[in-house]
Amino acid sequence: MKITILTLFPEMFAPLKMSIIGRAAGRGKLDIDIVNIRDYTQDKHHFKCDDYPFGGGAGMVMMPQPIASAIEAVDPGHVARRIYMSPKGATFTQAKAFELTGYEHLVLLCGHYEGVDQRVIDMFIDEEISIGDYVLTGGELPAMVVCDCVARYIDGVLSDGSLVDESFADGALEYPQYTRPAVFRGVSVPEVLLSGDHAKVAEWRRAESLKLTKKLRPDLLQGK
Ligand SMILES: C[S@@+](CC[C@H](N)C(=O)[O-])C[C@H]1O[C@@H](n2cnc3c(N)ncnc32)[C@H](O)[C@@H]1O
Repeated sequence: MKITILTLFPEMFAPLKMSIIGRAAGRGKLDIDIVNIRDYTQDKHHFKCDDYPFGGGAGMVMMPQPIASAIEAVDPGHVARRIYMSPKGATFTQAKAFELTGYEHLVLLCGHYEGVDQRVIDMFIDEEISIGDYVLTGGELPAMVVCDCVARYIDGVLSDGSLVDESFADGALEYPQYTRPAVFRGVSVPEVLLSGDHAKVAEWRRAESLKLTKKLRPDLLQGK
């Protein structure tokens, strides 16, 4: 899978070179291409990407031409799924991340300042995705969130089984996890986890998952 990120701040994406996602890219499981929108400006100094909003108001708006040219260059023929990271979009979920793995190429457009000229959204974008009901300074962190979450579903990125029991996989939260030592500051791990009885461990985990979901996220259980 290929993910192209269009941004005015390519240097913000250093975290994608690290840890599991960085290793996956290094092994060729995922191709992440960070493209500087400024490279597609047409002014003399190849710099101008934003301008004052028509009608007045605070801040600057990203101009349509550099974004349009960048999108046309990275996705000629409109083969990719083009996504604008935006607080106005539908809220990103695990289910959406899984759905996005169905595309061979994603283009993620990161806005900045007051956002991007609406004509670019209307002409070039397939969908808008928000990472939550709050406003950030730019789409770079949201794009990294989408990249990270989608990458976890790519074959060979995580170890086998990691995706099976985790939170949201079946509409509930994951059971509590414990590791060594078996007793930490006088508190023992639940005995069943040391029993070696796989059926009992599975039963305990199911019950704990439900208990935790009821306590922390009862909304997930509505309609079940
Ligand atoms: C300051 S925000 C613009 C907010 C816009 N003026 C509004 O009120 O809806 C700048 C950019 O950050 C990104 N952004 C901010 N919050 C976001 C969120 N919750 N999810 C996804 N992208 C977000 C978008 O790309 C947006 O264009």
